[in-house]
Amino acid sequence: LDYTKKRFLCYFGPKSHSQIEIGHKTLESGKMVICAAVLVLMTLLILYGSNSVNDADYANFHVSTHQALKTTDLKKWAGREGYVPFYGNKTMNLHCHKCALVTSSSHVLGKKAGHDIDHTECVIRMNDAPTLGYEEDVGNRTTLRVVAHASVFRVIRRPNEFLHRADSNPMIIFWGPPNKFGKDSKGTLYRLIQRVSMTYRNLSCFSIAPSKMRKFDSLFLRETGRDRQKSHSWLSTGWFTMVIAIEICDNIEVYGMVSPSHCGKKPGSKKMPYHYYKPRGPDECVTYVQNESGKRGNHHRFITEKQVFARWAKHYNISFTHPTW
Ligand SMILES: *[C@@H]1O[C@H](CO)[C@@H](O)[C@H](O)[C@H]1NC(C)=O
Ligand SMILES: *[C@@H]1O[C@H](CO)[C@@H](O)[C@H](O)[C@H]1NC(C)=O
Ligand SMILES: *[C@@H]1O[C@H](CO)[C@@H](O)[C@H](O)[C@H]1NC(C)=O
Ligand SMILES: *[C@@H]1O[C@H](CO)[C@@H](O)[C@H](O)[C@H]1NC(C)=O
Ligand SMILES: *[C@@H]1O[C@H](CO)[C@@H](O)[C@H](O)[C@H]1NC(C)=O
Repeated sequence: LDYTKKRFLCYFGPKSHSQIEIGHKTLESGKMVICAAVLVLMTLLILYGSNSVNDADYANFHVSTHQALKTTDLKKWAGREGYVPFYGNKTMNLHCHKCALVTSSSHVLGKKAGHDIDHTECVIRMNDAPTLGYEEDVGNRTTLRVVAHASVFRVIRRPNEFLHRADSNPMIIFWGPPNKFGKDSKGTLYRLIQRVSMTYRNLSCFSIAPSKMRKFDSLFLRETGRDRQKSHSWLSTGWFTMVIAIEICDNIEVYGMVSPSHCGKKPGSKKMPYHYYKPRGPDECVTYVQNESGKRGNHHRFITEKQVFARWAKHYNISFTHPTW
């Protein structure tokens, strides 16, 4: 190896420590210092380059938590006109004194809360979380279902469970990127739900208007200091459902949602399925923790979201059952 080759190894050293060692021994001390400085700089650049988004997010997160509460009154933050009917001229005018928000977590299993849930004025569920076969724990009534674009097919392919309901005025709110459900999108998904809406007249189907979708993003930014798009994450159906529930309910009892610190201490020590209807599916804490640290792609800030829910709980009559916190 000649000198230039060693310098090359030095500059690109962080990948292999043994090669740096070779450099150390043979370089003169003056050049060593420069070389070391460059190495440190390079390492910093590489580390900063891959983590800058998250570091900045976390830094902002702590700064902004105190300012957040003053800025948003969720009872009237974005307006009901943000819910657009897929068919006809229905308006989203649901208002309930008391709501049961039933999560899809396996924490609801074995608690026999079905009776309490069914005796709540309004029952809110998410995506394709079934009631059939789980009535004892989750009840059988559904007033409102909040469904992600990714779950549309799973809901539509079981009409007896999700569409043809005996509930009075059942309602589904679909959320998704504006290109899926925007009024002008008229994509496959949009037309499919429109057809469903025409077929099941008692069921009211709404999409979240693009303008309101943007407000959900800016709400997340205000409440957490983290930019949803820049941190390459998606809001979860849980986030949409909680905000919508606060909009329509005076009181909310949440079933099966763990606290933000639940998975923190010993991840992996509390094995519970992520979904109550998928006993062999992914683990809840593993899903939360992996998603929280995910850098790009299709992931959610489940734990950050729950930190916000914990703050909202004090302001909007929200209580958490199974587990209680
Ligand atoms: C909604 O449309 C129906 C006909 O499709 C009409 O009879 C009704 O008056 C309309 N309601 C409102 C509030 O526009
Ligand atoms: C729920 O179950 C009860 C009895 O178990 C039944 O009377 C009721 O119609 C069911 N409700 C729905 C929405 O299926
Ligand atoms: C739909 O609503 C009408 C009147 O509101 C009612 O008579 C009918 O039974 C309902 N259909 C279903 C499937 O619940
Ligand atoms: C909380 O619940 C009480 C009693 O049900 C109600 O009067 C009050 O308006 C609720 N507060 C909010 C912020 O919804
Ligand atoms: C993030 O959560 C989703 C469920 O919303 C799950 O499908 C996915 O596997 C999770 N990602 C990671 C990296 O755990």
